[in-house]
Amino acid sequence: MGAIGRWLDKRLDLASIRKTLLDRKMPAGLTWWHTLGSATLAVFVVQITTGIVLAMYYSPSPDHAYDSIRFIERTVASGSLLRGIHHWGASAMVVLVVAHMIRVFTMGSYKYPREANWILGVALLCLVMAFGFTGYLLPWDQKAYWATQVGTNIAGTAPVIGGTLVTLLRGGSQLGAATLARFFALHVLLLPILLGGIVMLHLVIVVRQGIAAPPKVLEEDAPGRTDDPQYAQFYDAKYAQSKASGVRFWPDIIAKDIIVATAVILLLVILGRFFGAGLDAPADPTDSAYVPRPEWYFLPFFQLLKFVPGSMESFVAIGVPTLLVLVLLLLPFFDRRSIRSLVHRPIALTSLGGVTVACALLFGASMSEAPHTGIPQEVGHPLTSTERAGRVLFDQQQCGSCHAIAGRKAPEKNADVPDAPELTDIGLKHTAGWMHSYIEDPTRFHPDSKMPAFGPPTLSHQEIEELAQYLATLRGPHWATAQPEFRDTFPEPVKPKEK
Ligand code: HEC
Repeated sequence: MGAIGRWLDKRLDLASIRKTLLDRKMPAGLTWWHTLGSATLAVFVVQITTGIVLAMYYSPSPDHAYDSIRFIERTVASGSLLRGIHHWGASAMVVLVVAHMIRVFTMGSYKYPREANWILGVALLCLVMAFGFTGYLLPWDQKAYWATQVGTNIAGTAPVIGGTLVTLLRGGSQLGAATLARFFALHVLLLPILLGGIVMLHLVIVVRQGIAAPPKVLEEDAPGRTDDPQYAQFYDAKYAQSKASGVRFWPDIIAKDIIVATAVILLLVILGRFFGAGLDAPADPTDSAYVPRPEWYFLPFFQLLKFVPGSMESFVAIGVPTLLVLVLLLLPFFDRRSIRSLVHRPIALTSLGGVTVACALLFGASMSEAPHTGIPQEVGHPLTSTERAGRVLFDQQQCGSCHAIAGRKAPEKNADVPDAPELTDIGLKHTAGWMHSYIEDPTRFHPDSKMPAFGPPTLSHQEIEELAQYLATLRGPHWATAQPEFRDTFPEPVKPKEK
């Protein structure tokens, strides 16, 4: 080991690399909040690792995407754990990047000389959001399909370029195979290259500039503004001084980083193991009744759009995110006062508070509006044509006026029969054969049934069979794991009706 090290050192000068990377001095007084950046980096590595394995099994076409995800969930060793970690890792990235930015913002660390690195940070935030948006579509389930439909529609409201933007995103006018291929390419090729590259730059700059000293240290006796010609000199002296009395990067700082990163990764494993990634019913472009819900970190924005009147929507949909990113990008340039602690920056404090409260309120509003529907209900394969015909009949015959499916009932409710059973998981209770007989003539099963008979002439046997087959696909919210427990009891054969 030592021999190899020496051999390499001769050629690559490892010692000086070690010196720049590890033997650096850091200012004293760095907090646990300073570990958020490296925790984000750790999760990024987790995302790359799990992502590579997932990509080995995933197939980016509408015909196979859903099945390949199911294969990962059920057949691949630890597949569901890996997918769970990747799913929760995406949320963790968003949380950590935002938390890290808030830390940098509250400590004024984006000020001289770190303006450029702040801008790279804003770019990283946008890329992480783009990762979330493109990754969400890949499972090609209902949730994925309809959320992306909404997301791309929002892009379409942009003035002038809206139409082009939608076509560009979808790879055509409709959301389909081209969209999936496009999102896949972005998610596994373009975005990782961009994010990886910018992360590297971000880190190189961090290593060169060191971590900003605590605000107090850099405020004392400072010139009022960072564009004061004296400021650079002041800063260099102060920083050198704080470093001299500081701590070593290795092992003092890095120990904290490793502790936090390990805790975050453990949490991801636990979330992935016990909460998984979930999979809705397969995408069904004909089911426009589906209530789309984007990933949680887009919810405040989604909710905001619901509140604005239609005429303002395109303005808000494009304007708000653009404005937010612009403000973040320009922040280090219009805020050049040398004061750094948040408590002495009333405008910064109010803005941060305002944005946080607004997001929390919008998020809360969105959660309280959350429909009970939209739970996966159907068996895990795209509906066959017979089953699909059954679903159409279910609507046409007003079955939904009495029966709810996953809490969803037809608008014209039948007030006389308020207690008809929910059919959400009827496919777990009865076979299609039993349901066929039942729908044909319920009185054979319950003499006082309140359900009308649908046997001929109302519906043909073929149509009843379609209905029964469709109902057999309804397997409740846990269809992926649920096992049917049929409780079919047929009436005595040939029992003539006495009426
Ligand atoms: C007027 C209200 C009404 C309409 C319309 C109606 N049902 Fe029913 N259905 C009921 C009631 C009430 C029950 C409960 C048992 C009973 O009274 O027969 C029931 C029971 C059922 C059951 C058995 C559920 C179980 O758990 O045993 C199935 C299956 C069913 N209905 C399917 C349908 C289908 C399919 C349609 C449309 C073609 C339909 N129903 C239309 C009222 C209705």
